[in-house]
Amino acid sequence: MKIKRREFLKNSFITGSGFMLSPKLSFLEDLKMQTKVKPVVISSANGLQATAKAMEMMLNGADALDACIAGVNIVEDDPNDMSVGYGGLPNEEGVVELDSCVMHGPSCRGAGVASLRNIKNPSKVARVIMERTDHVLMVGDGALRFAKAHGFMEENLLTEAARKEWLKWKENLSKEDDWLPEHKLEDKDIGENLKNYVRTTGTINCNAVDIFGNISGVTTTSGLAYKIPGRVGDSPILGAGLYVDNEVGAAGSTGRGEANLLNCSSVMIVEYMRQGKSPEQACLMACQRIVDHTKEARLLNDDKKPKFNVTFYAVNKRGEYGGAAIWSGAKYALNTGEKESVLKECAFLYRRVK
Ligand code: GLY
Repeated sequence: MKIKRREFLKNSFITGSGFMLSPKLSFLEDLKMQTKVKPVVISSANGLQATAKAMEMMLNGADALDACIAGVNIVEDDPNDMSVGYGGLPNEEGVVELDSCVMHGPSCRGAGVASLRNIKNPSKVARVIMERTDHVLMVGDGALRFAKAHGFMEENLLTEAARKEWLKWKENLSKEDDWLPEHKLEDKDIGENLKNYVRTTGTINCNAVDIFGNISGVTTTSGLAYKIPGRVGDSPILGAGLYVDNEVGAAGSTGRGEANLLNCSSVMIVEYMRQGKSPEQACLMACQRIVDHTKEARLLNDDKKPKFNVTFYAVNKRGEYGGAAIWSGAKYALNTGEKESVLKECAFLYRRVK
């Protein structure tokens, strides 16, 4: 979808922007001057490199969806990010299952893929589903076979580091089962001595407005660590983990997917922005909606507030951006045209007490 210079010139005339190549300026400088909207890209905090890559591509004329996918591919490929793609934490049986969706604002299209095994870039698979099928959501073995038909290579996504984390979780779940962590002869209650294992719902969401004012977004994740096999979170579900409307903006999320599935959070944020709320206000409203709808005691702390966190990231058509979470401490990655991206604090409903 890379927009060629000739097409850009044609579009510029069609939209009446009066594009004239200045003899003093390079094509790229002229391109920036003709921009209707300053490009912007926002992502979850693990997207510093992703947002920088996406911005670099957009400043060279790339479509926002191409840019966001290329950005999140860096994180999907990174074995050190245990919440996304290759190296993601597996399900309870030690198998990595990935979820992702994409939405392309200008064509009003989107697609998701869920419970995908053995393919490290589910965002690319979601995009092929969008472009080469009449479907919007594919899952499991069918999605894998579809991806292979399109040339995606299967590989083992479970890194040694992720396998060891999973084993730590499995061996410390209970003192009643037969899986034992390393222990000494005199140890008692083996299997209950490590409760601080990593259990994430980490994810990357990335949303962008390109130099033509077009908006797109991507969300991709390995989902809830140690989930029941087949569990699907919000990340592959349009409206829950991501939503884009080219006339309004884009929003996406990381954190407890179940809360977003129950509240259709991302589409709500876009609708709040349509009603005139800023991206940050809209994200805060989605947080409040989750709080208002969380009734189960098991999910609430002693103050009747959610024990879990959800973080939102949004941009609007004017290139304004913002992020918010239920609990303080969350950050987002942002790039408004610089070489390096920056981390910014999210707004929040409740301050965490240390
Ligand atoms: N938000 C990611 C998940 O819950 O799977």
